[in-house]
Amino acid sequence: MAYQTITTETRGPIGLITLNRPKVLNALNTELIGELCAAVDGYEADPKIGCMVITGSDKAFAAGADIKEMSDLTYIEAFSQNFGATLERIGKARKPIVAAVAGYCLGGGAELAMQCDIIIAAETAKFGQPEITLGIMPGMGGTQRLPRAIGKAKAMDMILTGRMMDAAEADSSGLVSRVVPAGDLLEEAIKVAEKIADHSLPIVMLAKESVNRSFETTLSEGVQVERRLFHSMFATGDQKEGMAAFLAKRSPQFRNR
Ligand code: CAA
Repeated sequence: MAYQTITTETRGPIGLITLNRPKVLNALNTELIGELCAAVDGYEADPKIGCMVITGSDKAFAAGADIKEMSDLTYIEAFSQNFGATLERIGKARKPIVAAVAGYCLGGGAELAMQCDIIIAAETAKFGQPEITLGIMPGMGGTQRLPRAIGKAKAMDMILTGRMMDAAEADSSGLVSRVVPAGDLLEEAIKVAEKIADHSLPIVMLAKESVNRSFETTLSEGVQVERRLFHSMFATGDQKEGMAAFLAKRSPQFRNR
């Protein structure tokens, strides 16, 4: 499929999506969000794909929702279109997604990265929710996912002041899983994705679902869900293979079943 605002490429079992509106620092307009969701739909449906990577450019992962497109929006248009809701597709993906972030990762860009499962940051990454400086607040999940990721105090600091956080602070705050030199970002993200894709895809998907449940429910219900999902894994061939391989001191050959 020919996209205008993103590029896609498969690298073995990895679906790589690159945001591609360089003139506006990958600002997320309706077209880009639509194409991004379509690309994720495609990789979700492709049995050869075990993990996705979403990245941007050296200068910007994405500098937020497209301010030009948004500036004349009326309340009734925002409400009728349910503005902001489409991007939730990313967080609902069942296959894992790694965000590889260099440069600006602001507003809707940060909200997109937070819907991915793992954020890997280049040393140049700058995270922020600057919406307050535009007379709005985050509207694609930032007020909900940022405090869950870094706690209330830092999230309030970011959202109410609009300041940016560098990669080191994002790392120490728990927003990102690791920081790497800018030149190594994509290679490192692909390596992480390949490691994930080496495992049994249905088991990876269940593990992702179980971790995500922890953000939606009580501890005891979450532990109960975990236990039920864990029990279900003993119905898979991949559990038998994984444990047989361990006992035979060989590498497992997972078959995603
Ligand atoms: N939307 C539309 N265009 C954007 C944009 C955005 N979010 N961010 C940058 N651009 C455009 C600029 O207008 C500029 O276009 P022109 O060359 O036509 O003037 C181009 O990208 C390059 O940007 P700058 O010249 O500003 O680059 P810089 O290096 O001087 O500054 C920056 C970089 C600090 C990221 C600055 O561009 C900036 O502050 N951008 C806006 C960040 C922002 O406020 N994001 C939140 C958006 S609101 C949101 O996301 C709402 C939500 O939660 C749903």
